[in-house]
Amino acid sequence: MRQAGRYLPEYRRIREEHDNFLDLCFKPDVASEISLQPIRRFNFDFIILFADILVIPHALGQKVAFLKNHGPILEPIKSIKNLNYQNLKKCLDRISNIFQTLSILNGKKKDKKLIGFCGGPFTVLNYMVEGGTSRTHQQIKVFVKERRKEALELIHALTDISIEYLKQQIDAGADFVQIFESWAGLLKGKEYQDFIINPNQIISNELKRYKKSTKIIHFPRGSGYNYIEFIKEVVCDVISIDLTTPDEIKKLALEKNIIIQGDLDPKDLVAGGDQLEKEIKKTLDKFKDNSHIFNLSHGILPNTPIENVEKTIKIINSYDFTRRTS
Ligand code: CP3
Repeated sequence: MRQAGRYLPEYRRIREEHDNFLDLCFKPDVASEISLQPIRRFNFDFIILFADILVIPHALGQKVAFLKNHGPILEPIKSIKNLNYQNLKKCLDRISNIFQTLSILNGKKKDKKLIGFCGGPFTVLNYMVEGGTSRTHQQIKVFVKERRKEALELIHALTDISIEYLKQQIDAGADFVQIFESWAGLLKGKEYQDFIINPNQIISNELKRYKKSTKIIHFPRGSGYNYIEFIKEVVCDVISIDLTTPDEIKKLALEKNIIIQGDLDPKDLVAGGDQLEKEIKKTLDKFKDNSHIFNLSHGILPNTPIENVEKTIKIINSYDFTRRTS
């Protein structure tokens, strides 16, 4: 959850030297170094590739820029005809440096596991249509309702390119892949089925067919009760949960042998103190009968004090896991 990033001074130092954030993602030496920064500092169990979900619109020929202190800006797509997605392998050549970053990390990972990732097709489409971060998501909602056929055609293209992109990440050394469907919560009912469940299901099935031992993490953020439907239908090894996830997930995950990841509110990590300690213990207690990867429910906030991350690790390491019943 933004393991590397602006809360780290060593990241900010490198970031200052680059105007465009995407340049960082395409320099294997720099991107691999950034991926390792949080491991050196905190000795986390997983290394996550440093890149961004918006490299896919870039690969498809859409202009993407990250301006300082302003999130991403994408040149709005007027029509799918402007996008060059017929030759997926050629599109991926534009971002092939990312596979080099993974190869470097694979050579340095030792006993750590390496996570590759991409955005979920609907989440990537959301940014492509909105042209950046949006508060209301008006344009994507209208697009899905009024230009459904075109929207589904784009979802198919994004599903295909995501599969190919993740396969190449697996070839380069990713042990886990995470699919960030960060805006899944915008959709309900049949739209949720067609735009969230179906594409994520296709991605999982294709990847399992490609390499069974690669672990798949899904993150249909904001899905609420649809989290239950999601894990009933989409094959996953790990489900990344957030504050909308119902408690029923615990029983179903146990039955289906799915690991739960997440739960801590990033705001508690900023707050620190007794509140943080209380919330960490609450999360650990809550999932004591499940297999659980301790993580946040969304990305780490840039104003997170480093000592709060250190404190979290200490509390987890001193927790009495022997109370587990399984
Ligand atoms: O976790 C990691 O360390 C891996 C790297 C990673 C980044 N983005 C780096 C990043 C990962 C896994 C992502 C995923 C991502 N990117 C998502 C899905 C997860 C989520 O947060 O819901 C989304 C929606 C994006 C798109 C994106 N990238 C936005 C909206 C922004 C701007 C918001 C912000 O925090 O500034 C980014 C920028 C971004 N991606 C940063 C980092 C470290 C900050 C950029 C900077 O340094 O200027």
